[in-house]
Amino acid sequence: MTGLSEPADAEGLSSSIKEEIIRGLNEDLAREYKAIIQYVVFSSTLKGAEYGNIAQQLEKHASDELDHALKVAKQIDYLGGTPTIKAEEAESSENPKEMLEIDLRAEQETIRNYRERISQAEQAGEYALSEILRAIIAQEQDHEIDLKDALGLR
Ligand SMILES: [Fe+2]
Ligand SMILES: [Fe+2]
Repeated sequence: MTGLSEPADAEGLSSSIKEEIIRGLNEDLAREYKAIIQYVVFSSTLKGAEYGNIAQQLEKHASDELDHALKVAKQIDYLGGTPTIKAEEAESSENPKEMLEIDLRAEQETIRNYRERISQAEQAGEYALSEILRAIIAQEQDHEIDLKDALGLR
């Protein structure tokens, strides 16, 4: 009997971590949906010669974020969860510089959250998940760099 309680506890622990990861991934997914919306809108409305280049980059970001959303949704399903249908509320601005700042803040928040998710995945022994998240975070960091360059912050 005593031997049985340990594995049960261990399993209970790992399944509660798993639920926490699923919850977190659904928040990540909602943020990816928001990023898609913002990049679709911003890439098509950003005007001005000085922003010509970044508008094209934002269009590329939009398709990267869609790819992230698909990957995160598949991982949620794989872990036994249900991918959310709700996007985090998108933000907007008429001012090009503010638009870019909104995107930059969103990327930074996304990176912070994926870092947390990677450490949770490793704690739970979900190494395939942490590898997938690492590939995503590398692209989010590229997005962050593009935005910083456009804002003259580097
Ligand atoms: Fe993303
Ligand atoms: Fe991004």
